Amino acid sequence: MSSKAASSEMHLNHALSHADVDADPKTHEIIERHSKYTLTTYGRPPVVFTHGKGSYLYDIGHREYLDFTAGIAVNALGHSDPEVSRVLFDQSKQVVHLSNLYYNVPAGELAEQLIESTRNSGFFPASKVFFSNSGTEANEGALKFARKVAKVTADSEEAGLKKHGVVSFKNGFHGRSMGALSATPNPKYQKPFLPLVPGFVHAPFNDVDAVDSYVNEDTCAVIVEPIQGEGGINVASEAFLKKLRSRCDEVGAVLIYDEIQCGLGRTGKLWAHQHFSEDCVPDILTMAKPLANGIPIGAIMINDRVAEKIVIGDHGTTFGGNPLACAVASSVFRRINTPEFLNTVEQNGAHFRQQLESIESPLISGVRSKGMILGLQFTVDPAPLVALARERGLLIITAANNTVRLVPALNISKAEIDRGVEILKEAVVAFEDRTMSVNV
Ligand SMILES: Cc1ncc(COP(=O)(O)O)c(C=O)c1O
Repeated sequence: MSSKAASSEMHLNHALSHADVDADPKTHEIIERHSKYTLTTYGRPPVVFTHGKGSYLYDIGHREYLDFTAGIAVNALGHSDPEVSRVLFDQSKQVVHLSNLYYNVPAGELAEQLIESTRNSGFFPASKVFFSNSGTEANEGALKFARKVAKVTADSEEAGLKKHGVVSFKNGFHGRSMGALSATPNPKYQKPFLPLVPGFVHAPFNDVDAVDSYVNEDTCAVIVEPIQGEGGINVASEAFLKKLRSRCDEVGAVLIYDEIQCGLGRTGKLWAHQHFSEDCVPDILTMAKPLANGIPIGAIMINDRVAEKIVIGDHGTTFGGNPLACAVASSVFRRINTPEFLNTVEQNGAHFRQQLESIESPLISGVRSKGMILGLQFTVDPAPLVALARERGLLIITAANNTVRLVPALNISKAEIDRGVEILKEAVVAFEDRTMSVNV
């Protein structure tokens, strides 16, 4: 860039409400200290957030940002929710951690809520829960359970060992530990860590005809997101999930639904798979992100067929199921899982979609959504749009395949959605200007 162009870009940036160049000077001190001592595995913008309220975050210079990311689909009830704070405080005065050597009250209550609500609201005959600390760990445990089921049901030790295959899908995301990563077929994530866990194959998503060739007698598990989040908000078809269910039954494999991003009310139903028929139920469902509104927790919910095969000593965790996270999760779950709350998610999600559809741009080719998980499809890489929106006071994230991902708090208001989309429109115009001028 010429010095004249650089100075005019600088001048332009100053005109923006949340320009990076206008950040409070303390921002740079904090970033410098952070970078000196913290391993850099994320590219971060020059902003330091100090607090939040509802769907807003505030930086150290007191600038307000509308948050369409909610900590990547985590803060379902928004930031600094008073009831979450109260439960956190009250439980912390009782007991924070015990280990899994002892029973605690909140974990039992939460497990009962999850099982009973799942059984009452859909077709999945969930029977038991195992608590973890994150989504990755929930998937890791689910894959272990599937391997154990295969071993226990096989005719011989040799046959049990042979039946260790796991099928996952292109554009799927299941986490970064070795098992979860092996199920996440993104070369960017996998390549530096090869070789991965043996037995994992990756099939095309939503391709009904391909299922038979990938899922066979050696398969112990099929893991799939009913709506792919990181992969670009791709909704599974009924025919695809039905086929996975029937093929898993044919070959004796366990069907795992990863609802870590799309579950727990995000689509306007308790679980994303509840948008599909009785023939589309899983054997295992994993959840995490919004369960305790930001306090780390995950869970593996399983049916009897799986539960019967898992015995004392098969799996474990120090922190999983701790009373603090479970007490918060129990309260969060009670608030999300009401017909009124879920209806509002559905209605506001439909409104959000309409608003996104009203953005006219040659760079946008469509919108995909289910409730409050929305993807705006671009014809080019929309990565620069993230900064263009942030410097105008709006936080957004991208997903794979040129998608902008919108996963706000589930209790975001229509007025906040409208305000955010107005900012997004301005950012898209700036993105067009930039993209067109580069292409000239
Ligand atoms: C669908 C899905 N599965 C698994 C994970 C991993 O969860 P965590 O980051 O809590 O380990 C994520 C995280 O983005 C996810 O979106």
